[in-house]
Amino acid sequence: MESPIVLVTGAGGALGRAVRERLTADGVRLALLDRRVPSGDAKGADADAPWAAAVDLLDEAAVADAVARVESELGPVRAALLLAGGFGTAPAAETDLTTLRGQLDLNLATAASVVRALLPHMTKRGEGTIIGIAAGQARRGGSGAAAYAASKAALAAYLRAVDEETASHGVRTVTVFPMGTLDTPANREAMPGADPARWIDPERLADVLAFAARIGPRARLREVELHPDG
Ligand SMILES: NC(=O)c1ccc[n+]([C@@H]2O[C@H](COP(=O)([O-])OP(=O)(O)OC[C@H]3O[C@@H](n4cnc5c(N)ncnc54)[C@H](OP(=O)(O)O)[C@@H]3O)[C@@H](O)[C@H]2O)c1
Repeated sequence: MESPIVLVTGAGGALGRAVRERLTADGVRLALLDRRVPSGDAKGADADAPWAAAVDLLDEAAVADAVARVESELGPVRAALLLAGGFGTAPAAETDLTTLRGQLDLNLATAASVVRALLPHMTKRGEGTIIGIAAGQARRGGSGAAAYAASKAALAAYLRAVDEETASHGVRTVTVFPMGTLDTPANREAMPGADPARWIDPERLADVLAFAARIGPRARLREVELHPDG
């Protein structure tokens, strides 16, 4: 049987790298979307490289085109890992609507554009799992990160609503909440005084995402909190 296809957005980021390594080791066929094609993944440079496309996820037409190409060139997408997103801090009193909308674009719209493009394919087949990454702030708020917290909470609510709509068509959504900082090069640079041992290892988060993508039938995850171990 041919290995399943998993689409990954934000594939060029820090978590994207850990997810690519994990899923490749699992024998999964990957379709990678990011603003830039992750280095080393350009077809031509390496014939074994996964399918990859440089796409602005806020460009609905480009996303629809990329998803259609994955489905026709690779095959049916079994699961989508929507990793694209990002952090932003600003005191609430300084969070204007442009900042708020920017976070909603970054953390909600980048996922919603892909969900919209994928759903007709998945519901027609009666199979699919869509997984998004929220954040601890979506659960418990976070001083100085109101727009970020709101955008991640919006993503979780969006995915829950999609699930209500599509579960009867065989399409499930999962929201994973990293309940702490990920140990990434960017975070180490931004917080040189912090102890990364108290942060979540992206490889463990990749383990959870890989599991969430393949579990079933007759059991599924809906929301998962992943906490630092320390
Ligand atoms: N890092 C943490 O501590 C942490 C904690 C909790 C949750 N998370 C969440 O986990 C996910 C991955 O985090 P990460 O640390 O791997 O982030 P990252 O390294 O910044 O990777 C995110 C990737 O998404 C891409 N992206 C963003 N907007 C896009 C757009 N409109 N079109 C195409 N690509 C776009 C980025 O490209 P550009 O760089 O070109 O924008 C980047 O390659 C994010 O959703 C983040 O919010 C992270």
